[in-house]
Amino acid sequence: MNVHESEKIAGILRGEGYGEESPLEEADIIVFNTCCIRENAENHAFGNIGALKKLKREKKGLLIAVGGCMTQEAGKAELLRKKFPFVDIVFGTHNLSELGRLIEKKRAQRKAVVSLLNERQETEDGIEPVRTSYPNAWVNITYGCNNFCSYCIVPYVRGRERSRRAEDVLSEVRSLIEDGYKEITLLGQNVNSYNSDGRGGMSFPELLDAVASIEGKFRVRFMTSHPKDFSEELARVIKKHDKICNLLHLPAQSGSNRILQLMNRRYTREKYLSEIGMLRALIPDCPVTTDLIVGFPTETEEEFEETLSLVREANFASAFTFVYSPRTGTRAAEMEGQIPEEVSKERIMRLVEQVNENTRALSATFVGKTTEILCEDYDDKKGLYLGRNEAGRMGYFKCDENPIGEFVTLKVERANGVSLFGELCRGDESER
Ligand code: 5AD
Ligand code: SF4
Repeated sequence: MNVHESEKIAGILRGEGYGEESPLEEADIIVFNTCCIRENAENHAFGNIGALKKLKREKKGLLIAVGGCMTQEAGKAELLRKKFPFVDIVFGTHNLSELGRLIEKKRAQRKAVVSLLNERQETEDGIEPVRTSYPNAWVNITYGCNNFCSYCIVPYVRGRERSRRAEDVLSEVRSLIEDGYKEITLLGQNVNSYNSDGRGGMSFPELLDAVASIEGKFRVRFMTSHPKDFSEELARVIKKHDKICNLLHLPAQSGSNRILQLMNRRYTREKYLSEIGMLRALIPDCPVTTDLIVGFPTETEEEFEETLSLVREANFASAFTFVYSPRTGTRAAEMEGQIPEEVSKERIMRLVEQVNENTRALSATFVGKTTEILCEDYDDKKGLYLGRNEAGRMGYFKCDENPIGEFVTLKVERANGVSLFGELCRGDESER
C-alpha cells in the first residue's frame, strides 16, 4: 500500500518539475511517506527525519515534507512540528493529491505548511504514479478500513472504507496491460468487502473476474483478504482463471479463539481452517500465506502455542510475523495484561522457526520440477536474474539476454528458504 503511495508521491513531484536524485545531499526536496502501523515503523520515521537537521541547515532551499499515516495520528503532526521545526510541509493520507499545491504554497511563504484532512470521499486522485516495480503494477481498489481490529490504527488514520468504481479500476488495469505490465496486484485493506459502500458497482469476486477477463498474458494478485469475508464464490473465481495466481494471502493473526475475539477479528480458528479447506478442495495444495501477531494483551503460553499449531495445521507457505505493538487510541492499547517484551521476543523467535520450517518444506516441493517465473530484476551480487512464480517463490537463474518483464520457465535445481535456483528451459519442456 505504502509503496504504491510513494509511487504517487513521485508522480506528483515529477509534475512539479523534480527529477529523481539518489544521493540525499543533492536533493532539492525530500518527502517522507511514513507508516504508523507499529511503533518501530514510527520510530524509524522520527529517526530519519531527525537525521536531516544538519543537511537542512547547510542546504538553503532544501524542502522537507512529511506525509503518510503517521501525520494523521492524533497529536502526531503537532509533535512532529515541535520536534523538527525545520520540516516545511506536513500532509496526510487524505490530501496526498494536494502535495503539488502545498509545495507551491511553501515556496511562496516562509512559514511551514501543515495541511491535514479528516476524511476524503473521492476515490479518484488523478495522480499519474511513477511506477517503480515493473513488470508489477499496484492498483488500489479500496481505501480505508471499517474493521476496527482492536490492535490496529489503520481505520483511525485512513478513515472508512471507500471503493473505487469498478469501471475506473478496469480502465486503469487495461491501460497498464497496454503499457506492458505483466502482473497486476489489486490493493485494499480488505479487498473482500469491496463495494460495501455500493460505490464499486460490483462485488469483489465480480471485479476480480472482470480484471482476469481482460485480454493479454498477465498475472493477477490481490491483497489483503479478511477471513470473515472470504467466500466460495471468490475461491471459484481464483480457480476459473489461469491468470489469477493460485496463492491466497489470508491474515489469521492468531490461532486462539479467545485472542481472536479480543482482537475483534470476527472469525474462529475453525472457520479460518474451514475456509482454507474449502479453497484447497477446489485448488489442491493452494499455497496460503498469512500475518500473525504474538504477545497480544493477555496471550498465554498455551494460546501462543495454538498459533504455532495453526501454522502447522494450515500449512502456511510463509507468514509475516509481528510482535504486538500498542497503538495509542486503539482498544487493545487500553487492555490490562500487556505482555512483557522478553516474553513476546521469545515467542516470535519460536514462531519464525516454525514458519521457516514450512517455508523450506514448500520450496523443496519445487525442486526437480519446472515453474513459470515472471522475471523482475537482476541481482548484481549473485549475477543472476530473478522473479517470482505464482506461489510467490523467488526464482534465480542465468540468462544471456535480458528477460525482465518476460515469463520464463525455470527448471528448479535447489531451494534455499523462499528462493529457488535453477536453469531456464525451453517452453516445450515445461510441465505447465
Ligand atoms: N501490532 C503488531 N502488528 C500489527 N499489525 C497491525 N497492527 C499491529 C499492531 N498494533 C499487523 C497485522 C496486519 C499487518 C499489516 O500488520 O498482522 O495484518
Ligand atoms: Fe487493520 Fe483489521 Fe483493517 Fe487490517 S482489517 S487494516 S488489521 S483494522
